[in-house]
Amino acid sequence: MKVALAGDHGGLKLKEQVAGFLREWGIDYTDFGTFSEDSVDYPDYALQVAEAVQSGGYERGVICCGTGIGVAITANKVPGIRAALCHDTFSARAAREHNNANVLTMGQRVIGVGLAREIVKVWLEAEFKGGRHGRRVDKISFVEQKYNRCSR
Ligand code: RB5
Repeated sequence: MKVALAGDHGGLKLKEQVAGFLREWGIDYTDFGTFSEDSVDYPDYALQVAEAVQSGGYERGVICCGTGIGVAITANKVPGIRAALCHDTFSARAAREHNNANVLTMGQRVIGVGLAREIVKVWLEAEFKGGRHGRRVDKISFVEQKYNRCSR
């Protein structure tokens, strides 16, 4: 599995911690920045991860900002991206099993590093259950096609 990782200045520390978890677990990743605490615009970083996943070069993406909200909103504008903002492990598991979420977002100003580690672990390990959930995710794609006229 290859993971695309990014965050803005508000998620810099959490993004670096996630990078550490991925290295520890032997998971290949690319860090798309940001790399300093200088103020940046979160859509620029969310878009890089969303496009990396949308292109098929990366199976999953993780994006961090202050709240996880702005990056989730941005990533979900990209066809084929199902970004889930998760601040608990129950939601992280459901985001994979029910929603086939290919991007995880989290907020550095919301959760601590211990919980973030568990969330990322659960989210990376859980698998999409398909079946009735597949039918529902297909309906998300139909909505995308209706409004974007393109979808992955
Ligand atoms: C940056 O101050 C902050 O707005 C950003 O990290 C994020 O929380 C936006 O949703």
